[in-house]
Amino acid sequence: MNAFQLFPEQASSGAREVDWLTFGLVAVTGFYFLIVFLPLVYFSVRYRVGSKASRENPARGSNLIEASWTIIPAIMSLGLFGWGAAVYFHLRKAPADALRVNVVAKQWMWKLQHAEGKREINELHIPIGRAVRLIMTSQDVIHSFFVPAFRAKQDVIPGTYTSEWFKPTRAGEYHLFCAEYCGTEHSQMIGRVVVMQPAEYQRWLTVGNVDVSMVESGRRLFTQLGCSGCHMGSGSVRAPRLEGIFGKPVPVQGDGFVVADERYIRDSILMPAAQISAGYENLMPTFKGHITESDLMQLIEYLRILSADAPRP
Ligand code: CUA
Repeated sequence: MNAFQLFPEQASSGAREVDWLTFGLVAVTGFYFLIVFLPLVYFSVRYRVGSKASRENPARGSNLIEASWTIIPAIMSLGLFGWGAAVYFHLRKAPADALRVNVVAKQWMWKLQHAEGKREINELHIPIGRAVRLIMTSQDVIHSFFVPAFRAKQDVIPGTYTSEWFKPTRAGEYHLFCAEYCGTEHSQMIGRVVVMQPAEYQRWLTVGNVDVSMVESGRRLFTQLGCSGCHMGSGSVRAPRLEGIFGKPVPVQGDGFVVADERYIRDSILMPAAQISAGYENLMPTFKGHITESDLMQLIEYLRILSADAPRP
């Protein structure tokens, strides 16, 4: 590594896009800075009070000049906007086949769990060349998951899920920071991201702090917490079936449709009265205070797979 480094390493596909956009912005604003600022200095000196410069040239209007210095910058600015928007949307929308890693932040550590069940703290191990999507929440205050080498930074907010994704392009170890002031030990809320070869990653998943898979944990919770009593099989209570709903719009009372994503499922468990499925009564008790963030994520993983594997009406 160079002693002087202007940018962190580019270790993800998105890093290149973000850097090019940054260079583009600097180039365009630099260009305007020069063509405005240099003449300004020149004219200030040349036409200063008391200078002998001729002031006799009358001002001449030119529609061509007026039009071109309006239209050309307008097109360039819109171009920058379009470019920025394209990069933004690409960086917001994770590919459908991305690996999912669940992140729970708390003062002052990162707790992560991979779909296969492996847990880790303040470290994120991921395979090279594969898109990874983080589904994140916080147990207490706002944190921010920041990996400079990936140019990825996203607030992690209590009470809801946020998400970010990246596709590592280079093996190695990279810094992980909390980038939102979150209390006394905010500066200690750091860690590392380890990008490994795929085979190595598969091996890593099976050693150390390995739980049953998140789907399996979720399936057990679904029974233990009594969800299955109403939402599955032929319970006496009428409750909406949950198979096949994940990622799809579901009808809710009064409000039309809501996409059954992670946030919707989370809210339905913690605040069941908020958005009631159309055609059902508000009977479900809240699970607020009875379920941890990590349990919620496991339940969601289970419902997701339930959707993919068992599309029953
Ligand atoms: Cu967590 Cu700053």
